[in-house]
Amino acid sequence: MSETLRYDGKVAVVTGAGNGLGRAYALLLGSRGAKVVVNDLGGSTHGEGASTNAADKVVEEIKSAGGEAVANYDSVEYGDKIIKTALDAFGRVDIVINNAGILRDVAFHKMTQKDWDLIYTVHLKGTYAVTKAAWETMRKQQFGRVINVASAAGLYGNFGQANYSAAKLGILGLTKTLAREGASKNIKVNCIAPLAGSRMTATVMPQEMVDALRPEFVAPVVAYLSHDSCESSGQVYELGAGWVAELRWQRAKGGFLPFGDASPEAVAKVWEKVTDYDDEPEYPESTQDSFGPVMGNLERYKEASSKL
Ligand SMILES: NC(=O)c1ccc[n+]([C@@H]2O[C@H](COP(=O)([O-])OP(=O)(O)OC[C@H]3O[C@@H](n4cnc5c(N)ncnc54)[C@H](O)[C@@H]3O)[C@@H](O)[C@H]2O)c1
Repeated sequence: MSETLRYDGKVAVVTGAGNGLGRAYALLLGSRGAKVVVNDLGGSTHGEGASTNAADKVVEEIKSAGGEAVANYDSVEYGDKIIKTALDAFGRVDIVINNAGILRDVAFHKMTQKDWDLIYTVHLKGTYAVTKAAWETMRKQQFGRVINVASAAGLYGNFGQANYSAAKLGILGLTKTLAREGASKNIKVNCIAPLAGSRMTATVMPQEMVDALRPEFVAPVVAYLSHDSCESSGQVYELGAGWVAELRWQRAKGGFLPFGDASPEAVAKVWEKVTDYDDEPEYPESTQDSFGPVMGNLERYKEASSKL
């Protein structure tokens, strides 16, 4: 038997923890010793209204199971207030799970400024604001675990979700940079792209699937990523129904324009190579890896020009 993963002495902030996935994260961490700030604005899936009920109910569930929790009802865009609740109640913040979310699905040609702004504000700005407010404390204590929430819609695009997919892929960029900046202070930052039944997915899934895709399948992965022992950082995991996998970039080996011919026709000639993933594809992990072939080719150009 492997060692039980516990969170005693740790303080976890879970945003949007009044329903669905966030509730499952809060309950699991609370049942394993973490002190939990249950944040939830208590509004609709569409981002309207507010209520204290959602957060209060989950706090009660954690407490009645013997755990410790406090509620916070602020919108994630006011991250400093949420982190203040953690610091006031428990004196520290170790784990931040940026889970709060809404949908404003509509085809791009019908999307309003409000549809765009609200999704950006809750998902990307909210993830920034809560993390930013916790960051200095995590740096000082030389420990932090941040789990951000992307989506397959962001990774692959999805009809009717231009606002949501843009925000969700933005969250992955934020994750990858914060993982680098947090590395020397033992702050690990990862991202998940889950699939689970919730009131959010009930708008697009049959009830049978909503019931089967339980958030409890996703919660253990989030808990694992939140644990001291987890060394991964800057990664994104797709998961649901008890399946989980890391996702990475793959790049074709690519094609080079012939020296002295920077024309669109030259691009057309190498296009097959540009899009060929079978011939020695690469898996870049950094901007250095990304720029490698560009810098290499620049050297070749310099050499070729010097021989002219
Ligand atoms: N369920 C899925 O299959 C799925 C897939 C991909 C991504 N996600 C993401 O997972 C997260 C959780 O989704 P869910 O399916 O559990 O949805 P959900 O609607 O059940 O839960 C989201 C919670 O966030 C809260 N919330 C919304 N706006 C808030 C704000 N401004 N401040 C604080 N709380 C706020 C809501 O009140 C709600 O309780 C979201 O970020 C969502 O985009 C879910």
